[in-house]
Amino acid sequence: MASFATLFSLLTIAILSFSCSSQFILPIEKDPLTNLFYTSVGIGTPQHNFNLVIDIGGPTIWYDCNKNYNSSTYNPISCDSKLCPKFSGCTGCSGPFKPGCSNNTCAANIINPLVNAIFVGDTGNDVLFISHSKVSNLLSGCTESEVFTGEDVPLKNLPKTSKGILGLARTKLSLPKQLSSSSSHKLPNKFALCLPSSNKKGLGSLFIGGIPQQSSFFKFQLTKIPLVINPFSTAPIFTKGDASYEYFIDVKSIKVGGEILNFKSSLLSIDNKGNGGTKISTMKSFSVLHSSIYSTLVRDFVKKASDKKIKKVALVAPFGACFDFSTIGRTNTGLDVPTIDLVLQGGVEWTIYGGNSMVLVNKKVASLGFVDGGKKPTTSVVIGGHQLEDNLLEFDLVSSKLGFSSSLLLHNARCSNS
Ligand SMILES: *[C@@H]1O[C@H](CO)[C@@H](O)[C@H](O)[C@H]1NC(C)=O
Ligand SMILES: *[C@@H]1O[C@H](CO)[C@@H](O)[C@H](O)[C@H]1NC(C)=O
Repeated sequence: MASFATLFSLLTIAILSFSCSSQFILPIEKDPLTNLFYTSVGIGTPQHNFNLVIDIGGPTIWYDCNKNYNSSTYNPISCDSKLCPKFSGCTGCSGPFKPGCSNNTCAANIINPLVNAIFVGDTGNDVLFISHSKVSNLLSGCTESEVFTGEDVPLKNLPKTSKGILGLARTKLSLPKQLSSSSSHKLPNKFALCLPSSNKKGLGSLFIGGIPQQSSFFKFQLTKIPLVINPFSTAPIFTKGDASYEYFIDVKSIKVGGEILNFKSSLLSIDNKGNGGTKISTMKSFSVLHSSIYSTLVRDFVKKASDKKIKKVALVAPFGACFDFSTIGRTNTGLDVPTIDLVLQGGVEWTIYGGNSMVLVNKKVASLGFVDGGKKPTTSVVIGGHQLEDNLLEFDLVSSKLGFSSSLLLHNARCSNS
């Protein structure tokens, strides 16, 4: 009997640990100064915790291996290794050896989209600790940030506590792809993101491998739309012929207060140079629109707002429409302002309510949280962080689909509920 009980509990443990390791859940925090989102991961031996900014369009994982950092489990990837992408180049360092200083090492491009420069680092592998599990051989870039001086440095414009970037793009080196390719984890190549609107209400979540059945988010029905591949790279550095590794969707038109905005609809398609279209980015705090889309949005939004007796006030940069907060009503989805709909393939709509369209710039003023991207942006519509908060998004790279919940506030839920 005793041995049966033991066997039973062993089985239970085996089943539990299987279901725990099947997905990874990382907490997401919002930095109030930069409005960027970051998570914490453990890397190396002894384990060192890094806050890394979440960049869904980021091709790699990179962190700052400054002069005080060392790890006994770090292995630099040599230039002639099969793991070293072609055309990467080599870096060298005469010692003392440590992460960030090794000889004959495969160079890593350290990309921070908030800086007008690309930095060089080393490609290496090390152990990663996430969700109470240990993952070996995680490939990442590391750079000694103190080596760079002057205006542009690798960590520029990131939150003060963040020491690198966690990339989730459609690349071999992104975190979801590496975890799904690792033989010990067998995860589907997908991830879900739920960005919190503020830290005061709790943390958001990044689910690698999809939303676990035990999660309270599992119950939300997601509307699925195709992810579009832009055949032309939108990266700061690429090889001719590369497709973009960022996530594009096919927005057909945009509505304000139920009426279609009037602008040249070709701006919403991707042309034969890869310009135009709509992508999703966590590195932009507010959605960025081509000037001619932006100006019609502002004009029509102001008109529809005035129909609701909402009073316009002086502009607060960088916004193009600001209102007297006290003249705006409340709903369960935030301020009661005209809705903005992204009309997608098949007539499906992604509705943006007040909670995602409006920004409280001070106690008296609420502004429309979209910004002007100028007349010649590469991508016409970049959906930014503020518009993604409290929405559950699942990027499924197996079926190449994006699932979205629309505002969780409609269901009296938030990303910070978990
Ligand atoms: C870093 O750690 C490795 C392995 O523990 C050791 O061989 C190396 O000397 C250390 N490097 C420095 C600069 O302390
Ligand atoms: C670095 O590598 C080169 C070529 O592999 C070798 O000739 C050189 O001695 C190495 N330097 C150090 C400091 O290990």
